[in-house]
Amino acid sequence: MTVQTFRTLFPALDGNVYGKALVYFDNAATSQRPASVIDKYARMSREANANIYRAVHKLSADATEAYEQGREAVRAFIGAASREEIIFTSGCTAAVNTVAYSFGEAFVRPGDVIVVGEAEHHSNLVPWQQLCLRKGADLRVLPVDEEGHWQLDELGRLLGAQPDGAASRVKLVAVAHISNVLGLVNPVEEVIGMAHAAGVPVLVDGAQGVVHEAVDVQAMDCDFYCFSGHKLYAAPGTGILYGKKKWLEAMPPFLFGGEMVDTVTLERTTFAGLPHKFEAGTGNFTAVATFPEAMETARLARDPQLLAAFDETCRCLEDALKARSDIRLYGASGDAAGPYRRAGVCSFTVDGVHHEDLAQLLDKMGVAVRSGLMCAEPVIRHFGVSGMLRASLLPYNTLQEVEYFMQCLDKAVAMLR
Ligand SMILES: Cc1ncc(COP(=O)(O)O)c(C=O)c1O
Repeated sequence: MTVQTFRTLFPALDGNVYGKALVYFDNAATSQRPASVIDKYARMSREANANIYRAVHKLSADATEAYEQGREAVRAFIGAASREEIIFTSGCTAAVNTVAYSFGEAFVRPGDVIVVGEAEHHSNLVPWQQLCLRKGADLRVLPVDEEGHWQLDELGRLLGAQPDGAASRVKLVAVAHISNVLGLVNPVEEVIGMAHAAGVPVLVDGAQGVVHEAVDVQAMDCDFYCFSGHKLYAAPGTGILYGKKKWLEAMPPFLFGGEMVDTVTLERTTFAGLPHKFEAGTGNFTAVATFPEAMETARLARDPQLLAAFDETCRCLEDALKARSDIRLYGASGDAAGPYRRAGVCSFTVDGVHHEDLAQLLDKMGVAVRSGLMCAEPVIRHFGVSGMLRASLLPYNTLQEVEYFMQCLDKAVAMLR
């Protein structure tokens, strides 16, 4: 599969903004959607727009079948053992919140500890802060060094016996597979090994990871893996919470209402089994129905020829940014086979030029990038800046786009100095 062939699957990539050909480098925020996903969404809206699970009529049965096909597509894509372990939410944020609430209710007591990475998206930080506030627990941090790499000895200290001889009170470790700012593939397997050796479960925020890495949740042995459909070629408004059955069964529901119940009287309620226990109310059935097409697209994106071209495109971008003495690129990439390889995301600042001004000028030239705090304020502050510019690529982006981007960047910087 060539880049050009893959690219033709995505109608939006042919678009123009302000009369300029679109260069879409904001993929870490939301990926573009292939025609197959757009068509499926339209077809489901026309032909199977009815509430799932509830009715006996044909439209409802078709919508329900499509919803469950979406669940099966996700299960197969991440190698989960069973469909009961795939919970649909509104997004990665809702998936993390579900665990923070439900796991927290079941297992976290005053004085317990939750560990989060320093470079987390707010979605994998704020829910844990709130849980700790609610429960009187402590939030501790797995710090990153100046290269953006995890300082694992600190995690070892947190997981080990405490200086006063007491056992560790860590109840859960929550870390990103790939940071949305640094774009480096973190050694999550190592963290999972360390945590499990201490009997501690691990939640992996896979919002970026599942896009760039082949994920097999059983091989990874994570306890929870959360991500969003809209970053992985699907229609927006969907998220996935993968959880090991033993944890999901032990956790109380997060939201209460229709279709998550077994029997209800005016006095009390018993709950449905997995996955429905965690899916109160009407799910985004039209968007979930696009998962088979989205996962198929994600599989195509892993074609070896396409990946080789993508690696080269990303390396060119990284090299071009590194070659400029007035640009600071954040996060040091490791080699291609090891941890901390860069996955399509470059966040940087340009000396003497504000990131927002640059982003606005780039937009006028047809280039879409992200700027600011990127919902990860602590790690941006760690590097002593008030914001960054982020170019995030997918395998449909081309070398020519990188060259054009660098020309536009030069032009914009010259205009602003
Ligand atoms: C690493 C990471 N986690 C969580 C999220 C939140 O995803 P959503 O806004 O789709 O819930 C994002 C979104 O950018 C992300 O990059």
